[in-house]
Amino acid sequence: MDTTTKKKDAVLSGIQPTSVLTIGNYFGALKNYVAMQDDFDAYYMVANLHAQTVRMDPTELRRRSVETFALFLAAGIDPNHSTVFVQSHVPEHTQLTWALMCNAYTGELSRMTQFKEKSAKSAENINAGLFTYPVLMAADILIYQAKYIPVGADQKQHVELTRDIAIRFNNLYGETFVVPEPYIPKIGARIMSLQEPEKKMSKSDANPNAYIRILDEPDLIVKKLKRAVTDSEGEITANPDRAGVYNLLSIYSACTNGTIEDAVARFAGKGYGDLKSGVADAIVDTLKPIQTEYARLLADKAYLTEQMRLGAERAQITARKTVSKVYHKMGFDSYQA
Ligand code: TYM
Repeated sequence: MDTTTKKKDAVLSGIQPTSVLTIGNYFGALKNYVAMQDDFDAYYMVANLHAQTVRMDPTELRRRSVETFALFLAAGIDPNHSTVFVQSHVPEHTQLTWALMCNAYTGELSRMTQFKEKSAKSAENINAGLFTYPVLMAADILIYQAKYIPVGADQKQHVELTRDIAIRFNNLYGETFVVPEPYIPKIGARIMSLQEPEKKMSKSDANPNAYIRILDEPDLIVKKLKRAVTDSEGEITANPDRAGVYNLLSIYSACTNGTIEDAVARFAGKGYGDLKSGVADAIVDTLKPIQTEYARLLADKAYLTEQMRLGAERAQITARKTVSKVYHKMGFDSYQA
């Protein structure tokens, strides 16, 4: 029998089901979810509430939420070890959001890089949800008292805002929240677009050649890699200023669990054609087991539905505790007085 009584630290993270996930989502986030699940009390969620900050067809969102959930399991998240769930199935997240909203400043929200970028992209729909989205994200994190947040580099600013809100709340109302830290991988924290390597790879890019999806077929992966933008220098070196080549080396390192130097050594004296086909092969090998497991899981909708229900039930136990603590501290529970 295990006699250790020390409680494990909690980790939480989430991914928006706006589209099929890319290798950026995999190396920046999902891969680390799997690596962390044994050592931590892990909570991983499909962030479907976040997904409606851009307009999404409800039928498509419903389908993509299930598919993303299946992809989490296919990538190796074990629902018996980790609490895996869909965000909207745990309504306490939105309850906590209101409490945090009253402790977040519009000034700090308007400084969020992603808000600026996304509102520039969709000027016709700068909705209040897009603006307050980092507060919902803070609620996702703080509701589970999560200590570490595995994310790619682009989410660091949101986790820092979450820290500020947690510290502010603790100072005002007494120790309530664990103050979280981002956990950003050394390699793969910022996988770049294959077409514009100064930009991050994004699942919502209008140009499908810019990204590799986790579910892309091998032929398509080879084709997209062939079209990847490099430069005219012709030599394979690890220079971050040569964004295209550096990105391909980073992807190779992430696939093979090696360093950038290992990747440079592997392609020493070779040309860009060899680099591109070597990277394509490494991606295909990495994704193949995930794709096979995904197809198997997706054929078993009853299993997925049951796992979603169990995950939400488990998540809700912790979420309820935090919300009732916070609501008490803020004076929202006068009926108990
Ligand atoms: P989202 O859905 O945009 O991305 C999911 C995760 O993938 C990482 N990522 C990348 N990593 C490396 N290279 C890339 N090109 C790349 N693109 C995306 C992101 O950093 C992220 O970790 N707001 C979040 C979802 C969220 C969340 C949370 C995350 C909601 N609540 C609470 C952590 C904790 C988002 O939009 O991620």
